[in-house]
Amino acid sequence: DEGVVRRDRFSGGPARSFLSSLAADERIFEADIEIDRAHVIMLAEQDIIGDDVAGQILTALDAIEVDGHDSLPDGEDVHEAIETAVIEGVGPDGGKMHTARSRNDEVAACIRYRLREDVLEAIETTLALRESLIEVAAEHTETIMPGYTHLQPAQPTTVAHWALAYEGAVRRDTARLLEAYERINQSPLGGAAFAGTPFDIDRERTAELLGFESVVENSMDASSSRDFLLETTQALSTHATTLSGLAEDVIIFANRGFVDLSDDYSSTSSIMPQKKNPDTLELVRAVAGDAAGGVQGLTTTLKGLPRAYNRDLQRATTHAWETVDAVTEASEVAAGAVATADWNADALAAEAGEGFSTATGVADLLAANGLPFRTAHELVAIAAENSADYDALEAAAQDVLGESLEAYVDPEAVEAALDPAESVASRDSQGGPAPEAVGPQLETARDALEAD
Ligand code: ARG
Repeated sequence: DEGVVRRDRFSGGPARSFLSSLAADERIFEADIEIDRAHVIMLAEQDIIGDDVAGQILTALDAIEVDGHDSLPDGEDVHEAIETAVIEGVGPDGGKMHTARSRNDEVAACIRYRLREDVLEAIETTLALRESLIEVAAEHTETIMPGYTHLQPAQPTTVAHWALAYEGAVRRDTARLLEAYERINQSPLGGAAFAGTPFDIDRERTAELLGFESVVENSMDASSSRDFLLETTQALSTHATTLSGLAEDVIIFANRGFVDLSDDYSSTSSIMPQKKNPDTLELVRAVAGDAAGGVQGLTTTLKGLPRAYNRDLQRATTHAWETVDAVTEASEVAAGAVATADWNADALAAEAGEGFSTATGVADLLAANGLPFRTAHELVAIAAENSADYDALEAAAQDVLGESLEAYVDPEAVEAALDPAESVASRDSQGGPAPEAVGPQLETARDALEAD
């Protein structure tokens, strides 16, 4: 067998294990079996190989599948090892399996086949997270909490409004992953080494057998492009970045006693008996670093690679697997941590007015009653230097306007504007935190989840 002779010539030497991807290829073992099956069926249907031989190869593949990846003979990669095992089972005719293809289109098909599954799983975790956030929002439309900019108390808002802010971001993460999925789901099989084949193959048929939506038409593009890996990893990295912000918020909220994480999502200290730490969310936060590293590794590997296939591509794939695993797990954990956390409404309400967070509402009230907004801003800023109450505002009015606040507004309206709950209720513009404004946002979020 010429193949064996050729392989012996090239398979020895000190670089053998450096060359081999066999161990890492365990991930695409099942995919490779499926791709072999589809290819063999197509070859037989096209009369490129006999039905008899095709049947024997398919039987051998069944046995190889049952034995599993660990039982494969040695090889440079899973494709070679499975082919060797087929030849061991069938005899030299087993070598007909590799008619009209190359490992280059084969590996591209394997990666796409497996990644499809992995990305669907990642997408599902984004849906679960959205569901958790929607549940929190539905339960807490009236739960007042402090809102921050620059991590300084800014304006009161509600837990629902906060949760739906993240839901909106995760919804876009889902959309980016779905879009990446569309482009993963195309068959490169039949591209061969890069230059097609003289055999009368049917690429649409193998695509159909493998459930791909269409084929990557150009054979050089099919066997050597990996931009689908890049955009998938980027979409995952974007999602990981969303998760890191969410995790950071909850870690801060836990620190302030606003939220109590479930024990399932907490850790303790080996020395400090009283400790309950938000370790899971710290790890979620860190996964954004892994994912950004994955994008970086992949980009740097692909940058400047000439067409067509180069072996560098073998190391590109790993970045995508590591990223999809880490981000999917982080997303799942974030969904669980959010779903099981308890919000402390009293602590949130007590803090909601801290740092004169209703100041903007008071300025808005004065502006609505005829004072130029800039003058109102100045007046409230002067009051804020003293205290967040009516007396301080009245003193500032004397200072800035030379007359009483009562010349502009009813003192009761000012007292109401100073109340965090009233302040939230008044901000009912589209997308705002007032419960009436959050209602439609919740509906949009539920409809979008249903549609995805
Ligand atoms: N194991 C390789 C990869 O993952 C596929 C084999 C293609 N090898 C080759 N020498 N053309 O990319």
